[in-house]
Amino acid sequence: MTATENKITIKRPDDWHLHLRDGATLSAVLPYTAALYGRAIVMPNLTPPVTNVAEAAAYRDRILDALPDGWSFKPLMTCYLTDNTDPDDVERGYREDVFTAVKLYPARATTNSEFGVTAWENIRDVLARMEKIGMPLLIHGEEADPEIDIFDREAAFIDNVLNDWMIRDYPELKIVLEHITTKEGAEFVADAKGNIGATVTPHHLVLNRNDLLAGGIRPHLYCLPIVKRDKHRVALRVAVTSGDNSFFLGTDSAPHPISAKETDCGCAGIFNAPNAIEVYANVFEEMDALDKLEAFASLNGPGFYGLEPNRDTITLERKSCMVMGEIDIPESDDSIRPFLSGEHLNWSVTKT
Ligand code: NCD
Ligand code: ZN
Repeated sequence: MTATENKITIKRPDDWHLHLRDGATLSAVLPYTAALYGRAIVMPNLTPPVTNVAEAAAYRDRILDALPDGWSFKPLMTCYLTDNTDPDDVERGYREDVFTAVKLYPARATTNSEFGVTAWENIRDVLARMEKIGMPLLIHGEEADPEIDIFDREAAFIDNVLNDWMIRDYPELKIVLEHITTKEGAEFVADAKGNIGATVTPHHLVLNRNDLLAGGIRPHLYCLPIVKRDKHRVALRVAVTSGDNSFFLGTDSAPHPISAKETDCGCAGIFNAPNAIEVYANVFEEMDALDKLEAFASLNGPGFYGLEPNRDTITLERKSCMVMGEIDIPESDDSIRPFLSGEHLNWSVTKT
């Protein structure tokens, strides 16, 4: 890493939590990630979800086909865990280098999670096998019980699942608590052993629930887990700049057509792939911790997954840039609005 006050060069980052979708949307959004990141953990919550080795291999081929000619980008595939997931299929996919990890969605916790896990006893054999072979479990850590307040669902999951039985019964299981949004999440990961990590999104480092709800509801800032009180945003900022290598970059870039966001029952997800690294740079600068950006963006994730960091570098400069406008979804009349579209950021990527 080299850094001056106005310029920083870091190893090429990876995105450890990304939604690429499929079809026309995949082709429209993929270049924003592939231009900058070496690899990405690709979420399996398509409709229908990616639940076995054959579907993951086919989805990976569609992603590679959508990649512009001559670009190098490596999609790392995940298996959507259901009540019926076969431990042998999971292990085969891992050994054959199709699956990098398994994704756990509690049923009905978020977008396209209706095929997720409905009862914990249904996944015990899979968890035991993953613990044995060292395969990471990526968790959408929110209780899906409709009785639990939406702002408390992450903390409740930590109490009722992780602390109650999962880390006791599977102490060596590698776990990534995805897109943490609370002080409780940050503390849980900081206090845990080295086999537990967390991704943190750009938007949870800059937004609190007033940004979403005060003075008018802003559907493009709605995502799950929902943004919380400001003290949680502050705790996440402290965690990612603390030097603790359990925290790493995962954008949770989750594109939806504007028609599905600006409607009676708008869906959850923020499309931040075009400017995530600039937002992270802004945050690290505000925390006086630009020297920690490279570890968060480019080293801690590979370290957790047992992979080498990327070899080449990218450069960011302190240069104001305006976040781009909407992008069209081919073969439709719809478009996707990037996070902070039309606003100015202090840092720009000047070399990829
Ligand atoms: C994601 C999506 O749209 O697929 N939405 C979101 O708000 N983050 C699903 C998820 O990661 O929860
Ligand atoms: Zn996600």
